[in-house]
Amino acid sequence: MHNVGVDFYPEHWPRERWETYAKQMREAGFSIVRVAEFAWAFMEPEEGRFDFSLFDDALAVLHRHGLKAILGTPTAIPPVWMKLKYPEIMQQEPSGRRTQWGVRKHQCFTSGAYRLLSERVTTAMAEHFRATPNVVGWQTDNEFGTNSCVCGSCQADFRQWARAKHGTLDVLNDAWGTRFWGHLYRSWEEISFPDGHASHNPGHLLDWQRWTSDVQVRFQADQIRILKRTCPSHFVTHNLMGLFQDVNYWELAKDLDFVSWDNYPGSWEQPCVTWHSSLAADLMRGLKRKNFWIMEQTAGPAGWGEFGRNVRPGELGKIAWHQVAHGADATIWFRWRTCTVGREQYWHGLLGHDGEPRRRYREAKDYAAAIKRVETAIEGTTTPARVALVWDYDSLWAVRCQKSFPQADYTANALRWYSAFRALGHDVDVVRSGADLTGYAVVIAPMLHVLPDAVARQLDAFVRAGGCLVADARTGVKDEHDRCHERCLPGLLAPAFGIRIEEYESIVANATYAVAGEAMAGTTWTAQHYADWIIPDGAEVLARYQPWHVRDYAAATRHHHEAGWAWYLGTVPKEDSVHAAIAADVANKAGLTARVVPPAGVEVSTRSGQGRELVFLINHGEEPAEVAVTAGKTELLSGTTTGQTLHLDRFGVAILRW
Ligand code: GLA
Ligand code: ZN
Repeated sequence: MHNVGVDFYPEHWPRERWETYAKQMREAGFSIVRVAEFAWAFMEPEEGRFDFSLFDDALAVLHRHGLKAILGTPTAIPPVWMKLKYPEIMQQEPSGRRTQWGVRKHQCFTSGAYRLLSERVTTAMAEHFRATPNVVGWQTDNEFGTNSCVCGSCQADFRQWARAKHGTLDVLNDAWGTRFWGHLYRSWEEISFPDGHASHNPGHLLDWQRWTSDVQVRFQADQIRILKRTCPSHFVTHNLMGLFQDVNYWELAKDLDFVSWDNYPGSWEQPCVTWHSSLAADLMRGLKRKNFWIMEQTAGPAGWGEFGRNVRPGELGKIAWHQVAHGADATIWFRWRTCTVGREQYWHGLLGHDGEPRRRYREAKDYAAAIKRVETAIEGTTTPARVALVWDYDSLWAVRCQKSFPQADYTANALRWYSAFRALGHDVDVVRSGADLTGYAVVIAPMLHVLPDAVARQLDAFVRAGGCLVADARTGVKDEHDRCHERCLPGLLAPAFGIRIEEYESIVANATYAVAGEAMAGTTWTAQHYADWIIPDGAEVLARYQPWHVRDYAAATRHHHEAGWAWYLGTVPKEDSVHAAIAADVANKAGLTARVVPPAGVEVSTRSGQGRELVFLINHGEEPAEVAVTAGKTELLSGTTTGQTLHLDRFGVAILRW
């Protein structure tokens, strides 16, 4: 079943309204509601005294109307009494000041008091609600994110973490390269935090970034242990934030039954293909190689101080279907009714401030009815991609701390490759660096800056076994400790790409280098930001720089092995057409054929399984689109049979049974 529902805050509304709301939710075809994730102050009004009556009553009302519930552990905002009693639970800023209480997510993840009290409230909630009939699962905390506390307890925790990881100071000194500038550590106590993203030692910074993520994973694990022990029949998930950068989601997802995520696309841009939301969805599905839930989805204009644009007529459903096409198995809108008080007054829900069910409510209702009609067909299906894109937090963090060229942007770069393959109609899986690549015909490894030898050998073997590998600028510069490899670039992958990069440079200021295609016959394009001076060493030159000083060097190459192929792009093309051309070449050599090649503005995505093959077509644009398709396929939403072309209205969706 595909659950549809809303995030609901009973504590924001008079009890008399609950009944009406539950009835309206049910009338809209909703089946599930998330509650309680910010309600610690209601559930533990003073230390050790628990009072769950508000939620008992709210859950009973929801239950009477056939609504299931997900409970959030409330640890993203402790009650104010805790801060007064245990001031050390608040994060310490670099200035030494404790963060003021009053927003949320401003507590220290290593504070003993906070960790203990978090475990206690989680235990109390789990014990209290384990038998509540409509409770089906849990969300841990809310959007684990940035951990910027610099308090003494965090520093001590980091030292312990570093000790557990490196074992001896000799190993740590070697890993961090502390011989540079005489940073040698001779006792563990001497180690402190690097100064955020300033000019500190890269190895130290990378380990610190890993630690900031690990303490949140550990904090979550403490809750999961309690929830699993106390409520073995409930699922445990967390609401992740898609392409958010500060947590290693591969690690955070490990302990969850499935991943959920919060999808707020398009509020600040005109309607267009929201590739970032597509890539995020594929990452979310990739984390456990399993479908995911949408725990929060745009329901209206969104913002805290300023808000973005409203969802246009028909867009609400499109946003939801888009995620289903990428593997969402539940759709939960944030939020039910727009709150009249507090910081999120302008973060609009399905209902406005007046609480009346109007257009956005009706569109959510239409979506729920539509998905009901196809949920049996969708059940048990997931995206079966032959193209894998490597998503590596180590590389992302290392590039963020030390960009190499000023415009280096890990995510933007990955998106260029991703959208090029998707635009050709190919599904893409997102995989972890070093993950098993069996079954993939193509591996794209954008800016794989941190390249441990084992991963390089694996990618090399992938090519030699017949795979198609695509990589680009700054590949293989660093080892797992963020030390530069003592090799000519791209290091151990040089034979796979058939190239050598002895020199490289940033393309400064607004300068650009003209590039002329060779194998990409007749095309000229523009290199910007960065140039690898590529010397072909067996590879075929696809394009060459034109300025006199780099005339001898390739900007893009392709290397054919007995079985496999490897492409290398050593610069950032100004024109999207370069990624598009390479992606088309790669797909061609890999023998991939798309079922549907979508026109601009339309996205294709597949879900298959249980002997069913479903091709989703999503029109992200405001203009109707005509899509060339195979005739004779059933379109599930309308029950019609396709001709040679399929008409999609603005924001239109079609699901073809293949
Ligand atoms: C996030 C949070 C929600 C809410 C929304 C809107 O996604 O998880 O609690 O704050 O943003 O701001
Ligand atoms: Zn701290």
